[in-house]
Amino acid sequence: MAKSKAVQIRKHGGPEEMELVDVEVGEPGPGEIRIRHKAIGLNFIDVYQRSGLYQLPMPLNLGMEASGIVEAVGSGVTHLKAGDRAAYASQPPGAYCEVRVMPAKCVVKLPDAISFETGAAMMLKGLTAQYLLKRTLPQGGLQAGDFVLFHAAAGGVGLIAVQWAKALGLQLIGTAGSEEKCALAKSLGAAHMINYGKEDFLARVKEITGGKGVKVVYDSVGKDTWDKSLDCLQPFGLMASFGNASGPVAPFAPGILGNKGSLYVTRQTLFTHIATRESTQEMADDLFAAVTSGKVEIRIDQRFPLAQVQEAHRTLEARKTTGCTILTL
Ligand SMILES: NC(=O)c1ccc[n+]([C@@H]2O[C@H](COP(=O)([O-])OP(=O)(O)OC[C@H]3O[C@@H](n4cnc5c(N)ncnc54)[C@H](OP(=O)(O)O)[C@@H]3O)[C@@H](O)[C@H]2O)c1
Repeated sequence: MAKSKAVQIRKHGGPEEMELVDVEVGEPGPGEIRIRHKAIGLNFIDVYQRSGLYQLPMPLNLGMEASGIVEAVGSGVTHLKAGDRAAYASQPPGAYCEVRVMPAKCVVKLPDAISFETGAAMMLKGLTAQYLLKRTLPQGGLQAGDFVLFHAAAGGVGLIAVQWAKALGLQLIGTAGSEEKCALAKSLGAAHMINYGKEDFLARVKEITGGKGVKVVYDSVGKDTWDKSLDCLQPFGLMASFGNASGPVAPFAPGILGNKGSLYVTRQTLFTHIATRESTQEMADDLFAAVTSGKVEIRIDQRFPLAQVQEAHRTLEARKTTGCTILTL
């Protein structure tokens, strides 16, 4: 049995519920691997799983993203072997640890050109940007020059999407909560940035697009941005909801979508897109190519030792981060 430190909660609640505990880690079973982590990614979903917005059985080991070295593989695992560099975004939670056993399906080999820290930072956030910009599209798709609105554009998913959208020729209008965040996202390729703490983003979107609106809104903020975001869309536009950083979206009557221009609404989650090993690999290859070609830089703007995970969560929830955050070992 290997020993590992792991971050665990016994009940949903604030950052103070997270404890560093000692756990024993056994051998991988069929379809599983054991991986020794080199770095761990921090994600807003970890906050939902900790707080109880997403209810999970207790006790719960947190964390959805990491990189490391494969130590052992169970029967039936053919795409990985002991000694491989690897990275993942994956269910079930439990990535906030030194070593773990987990399903191999969503773990991919990490190219030598990508460091462990970058690998840990980019998988969940980068695969999300990938499926949003490549697979979550309005009728007729997106063409170079099209306007899209992307909320929280200076965050982890946001800064990856900003750069990728630019590489695709899209005019990304981003929102962020401070002038500094707006300047950062602009410097990385956002066509326009709106400080939605100060400015009315609906009025600004209408102004920037000459009254036409955007083809897609990518909205991870949820409660605070939902209503006005619908009004930012062109007729037949797509409201792509993928998060709830400000709280969940309230129930609504579908009739409003007709009145606002026959709009489409979808709620997406990465875990549907990476449900199979084949789709995970295909999306990861696309992400690795975007990163190794230099089109997308994975910015790690915050690092916290694993033992300071409470502080990491407080900083993320207080909107004090930009780009990606990792936990170091
Ligand atoms: N569905 C999926 O497949 C999927 C996958 C990955 C991530 N997500 C979602 O995408 C979003 C971004 O994830 P991330 O890990 O990269 O986080 P992040 O963007 O680095 O952090 C969240 C950001 O949301 C903004 N925000 C707006 N209102 C907020 C509030 N009341 N409290 C806290 N933050 C608020 C803040 O930016 P400003 O200060 O600029 O407003 C904050 O920095 C999250 O909502 C996450 O759940 C969804």
